[in-house]
Amino acid sequence: MITIMTVSELTKAVKDAKNKNLTIGLVPTMGYLHEGHASLIRQSAVDNGLTVVSCFVNPTQFAPGEDFESYPRDFTRDRKVAEKAGATVLFAPDVSEMYPENYNTFVLACGVSEVLEGLARPTHFRGVTTVLAKLFNLSRADRAYFGQKDAQQVSVVEQMVRDLNFNTAIIRMPIVREDSGLAKSSRNQYLSDTELQEATVLKKSLDLAHDLIRSGEIAAGKIKAAMTEFITQTAENARIDRIDIVDNTTLADVETITSTVLIPVAVYIGKTRLIDNIVVPV
Ligand code: PAF
Repeated sequence: MITIMTVSELTKAVKDAKNKNLTIGLVPTMGYLHEGHASLIRQSAVDNGLTVVSCFVNPTQFAPGEDFESYPRDFTRDRKVAEKAGATVLFAPDVSEMYPENYNTFVLACGVSEVLEGLARPTHFRGVTTVLAKLFNLSRADRAYFGQKDAQQVSVVEQMVRDLNFNTAIIRMPIVREDSGLAKSSRNQYLSDTELQEATVLKKSLDLAHDLIRSGEIAAGKIKAAMTEFITQTAENARIDRIDIVDNTTLADVETITSTVLIPVAVYIGKTRLIDNIVVPV
């Protein structure tokens, strides 16, 4: 695995790979790699001749007051995890390399980025699509790998790729979980032992919703109420930010469940905002 920090080095590595007719897989990350990222890298290494892992805490997707400065970083460990999982190139640019002075172009996938997480974080997806448009162009990736944990992010990226005719296939990979059911996330490291235990309430509430739908409940309101009651009664430090039941394709709010739904939840455990989701086929 080679580690490179500049756009010009990445352009050269990509050109060399294309000259050798290698397909290119991109795994975009903000570092602090965990098993979820490793699963994406492993799949890319199986599918492609060259796997580029980008490791860049992207400032444009954080609003003022969010955790950009304190976002966990451990580059030494990231290099080991990426290499072990099969990465061939680790691209770790500085902010000034991605956003040089006078940088002033942004990419916005309207609609799908304005619901759910987009309501609470109105500038977030604009930052995500902007940095990904740059990474897709730089890496000339045939495939890019994303985790289903950020389900809306994947839908936003799919919209951008369709609308702007990127020649990159978006591969959506399953959520990787701890044995406790907690979805793996770089932000889990903010949690104390008690909070780690309480955080399992997210997945348990999603399982409850799944079971209710399987047993014939179709009123989204009743399912959300049952999830709310379960979370508040089970975890003292939990504060629900959002529970939604939306159409799995359009992400439009659903009142009566008649087709496959996505149920995303966002819950604060102490000060840490965690997200998780489940798709329930109907
Ligand atoms: O999911 C993430 O870690 C980020 O949003 C991404 C896709 C790497 C863009 O910065």
